[in-house]
Amino acid sequence: MKGPVMIFGADGYIGWALALHLGVRYDGPIVLVDNFSTRSLVKSVKSDSLIPIKSMAERLRYYKEFFNKENLIFEPCDARDPEQVDEIISKYKPEAVVHLAQQRSAPFSMVDQEHVLYTEVNNVVANINIMFSISRHSPGAHLLKMGTLGEYGTPGIDITEGDIEIELHGRKAKVMFPRFGQSYYHLTKIFDTYNLLLANKLYNVRATDVMQGVVYGVKVDEIVDDTLATRFDFDSNWGTVINKYVVQSVLLNELLIYGIGKQTRGFLSLYDSINALTLLLENPPREGEYRIVNQLDEIYNTLQLAEIVAEIANEYGINPSFRRIENPRVEAEEHYYNVEHKILPSLGFYRKKDIRDTIREIFDVVLKYKDRAAKMKELIYPTVRWKSSNEFRSELFPISKEYMRVLSREEIMKRYNVAD
Ligand SMILES: NC(=O)c1ccc[n+]([C@@H]2O[C@H](COP(=O)([O-])OP(=O)(O)OC[C@H]3O[C@@H](n4cnc5c(N)ncnc54)[C@H](O)[C@@H]3O)[C@@H](O)[C@H]2O)c1
Repeated sequence: MKGPVMIFGADGYIGWALALHLGVRYDGPIVLVDNFSTRSLVKSVKSDSLIPIKSMAERLRYYKEFFNKENLIFEPCDARDPEQVDEIISKYKPEAVVHLAQQRSAPFSMVDQEHVLYTEVNNVVANINIMFSISRHSPGAHLLKMGTLGEYGTPGIDITEGDIEIELHGRKAKVMFPRFGQSYYHLTKIFDTYNLLLANKLYNVRATDVMQGVVYGVKVDEIVDDTLATRFDFDSNWGTVINKYVVQSVLLNELLIYGIGKQTRGFLSLYDSINALTLLLENPPREGEYRIVNQLDEIYNTLQLAEIVAEIANEYGINPSFRRIENPRVEAEEHYYNVEHKILPSLGFYRKKDIRDTIREIFDVVLKYKDRAAKMKELIYPTVRWKSSNEFRSELFPISKEYMRVLSREEIMKRYNVAD
């Protein structure tokens, strides 16, 4: 790739790791876009990244120091504002845009009606703004949009990659695989998919909609020092299951299993998330094509994952027990789950590491920051119950009106030097 690549959500868990990877791999400009909302939303539930992360200004300074390159450029932008998005897309006319800039916590989206509103407005509006600005100012650019396997829910049949053929009353048709997302966060991803599909039909937006499974891990090859670390969330709202299990074994000496532990999902490491996104950038869809790609390394239920984490914990002298707790989510407790994922292997994708090696890397980091994590120990226990989102406003996690307000580019820039 020669032209600029733009990453919306470049300050996040996946975004910063991808920024480093693309920055080192290419010489052209990689434009990093963010409004730092995850940093402040994680704080709104009194949590923080387990690994202290640097400010964006420091991140770019350390990147230059370690790799002797200056091709990462930061642009402040709240993607909810169509004018801000238009301004930066028309300025750079990127060859490709990776869109990761969303509120990505399902539990956070389920706190109460205010959190539903925040999540739906942020996610749906940002996606619409990006796809319209691309079609106006950089037609033909590849929009690589991060969806989630959670869009499909657990339909009880094989999940296809792309369309499904159906037959009704003797007539056949190909339709988008049905979607049964089970939180308001997941619904935003479904709306994005349909909005993209229509933009593709009407304005020829060339797009890849990636349905990634749950991502775990702390590293990619370019994170060569803690100063370049990406965020790592472990509390019940913002952490993902494997990352959370490792912290639970270290801090609680027990693993919290939701319900009977038979909820089954697809998982992949941060390495594989980044490598797959890079491969898809290098192999864009045809001009005017809309492509759906499913990605996972392996399928596990949550009890199987707990067993793997406990096995590795033993290597560190930790012997966690399993504690079953009431499942705060509303989801099938036991179900069939199988996902077709052929496109990435057909492009030459191969898995970088064994799950056990990646979990060992997580243990090393969690043990290093154990004291920091201990201060937030109470946040490990789930507090948000899916049915509670019927409330208008939660006393537990009030979301200030400030979050609803679109930030100006100047306001975002004030946080450029702020580390937390
Ligand atoms: N982490 C996972 O397991 C996983 C799995 C599948 C899909 N995804 C998806 O991948 C994407 C990235 O996830 P992540 O885990 O890196 O999340 P993250 O919260 O760490 O990163 C998202 C980034 O987007 C920014 N952002 C959010 N709204 C914005 C806005 N309106 N304007 C500008 N910036 C904004 C945030 O500040 C943050 O830096 C999300 O879309 C998420 O839904 C994540």
